[in-house]
Amino acid sequence: MASKVRKAIIPAAGLGTRFLPATKSVPKEMLPIVDRPSLLYIVEEAVRAGIEDIILIQGRQKTAIEDFFDVSYELEDKLERDGKTAMVENLRRIRSLANIISIRQKQPLGLGHAVLCGRPIVGDEPFAVLLGDEIMIAREDQETTTKTLTRHFESTGLSTVAMMEVPESEVSKYGIVEGEKNSDGTLRVRNVIEKPGKDQTKSRSALPGRYVFSGEIFQYLQDTKPGKNGEIQLTDAMTQLAHGSGLLASGFEARRYDAGDKLGFLQANIEMALEHPELASSLRQYLKGLAQKL
Ligand code: G1P
Repeated sequence: MASKVRKAIIPAAGLGTRFLPATKSVPKEMLPIVDRPSLLYIVEEAVRAGIEDIILIQGRQKTAIEDFFDVSYELEDKLERDGKTAMVENLRRIRSLANIISIRQKQPLGLGHAVLCGRPIVGDEPFAVLLGDEIMIAREDQETTTKTLTRHFESTGLSTVAMMEVPESEVSKYGIVEGEKNSDGTLRVRNVIEKPGKDQTKSRSALPGRYVFSGEIFQYLQDTKPGKNGEIQLTDAMTQLAHGSGLLASGFEARRYDAGDKLGFLQANIEMALEHPELASSLRQYLKGLAQKL
């Protein structure tokens, strides 16, 4: 049996240009979905999969993220004196979720390079990668996407990544996997293409930003030359891994939102608010009224 996956890398060094001007001074990972920064959904997904150490790959001006997972004595003290115990407990729970370790990516050389920046902390261990632009919501009775991947890894010893089917018109937005279906529905990956152009692949199996890798991927990343858009692409190293010890792709149960996109971000906000005990009924009423006017 393969060793347990205890570490996760979350790349968070992007400039967030799609959300400017909001992201000029606020990291995009801190933009709220209802009342929680989007990054918190990602960290909680990782923790539900048994991850203990979260390695944030950061750019400049991201100290707000570190502060979010740190103690705020003044705030906790004030809330406590005001008798807001539930709120204090929630803040304490959040900062105790995992060990948050932060490392800088000093140059924006691509996703593959961002993941490689985590190597000094991950070492040779297997690890997960979760991209912050994708929010995956698993109900309590469902497995989180990262958990599905660690489960496959721990039973087969093979690196495993999440995949989803997309329409042809969206193939060029994602890394696309090609391979052969196994009897359990997973895909034995043969090739990974970063954002293929029209007619470059028949596959519609896209990568939604959840991965579990054996430490071997670092060696391939180390040797990966700049690819698509002149960036060191994680997908190029994944093809090498597929040709080496092997790579699986698996479907997942969770609901997914493309929160890196303005519309996806709004959809995530509306749907999460419809599940929020304080907001659900008044928002539903408001939306019904609004729908009649549209
Ligand atoms: C990155 C990856 C791509 C993946 C996508 C998922 O692209 O390079 O393979 O499918 O994330 O969100 P980006 O969207 O950051 O350009």
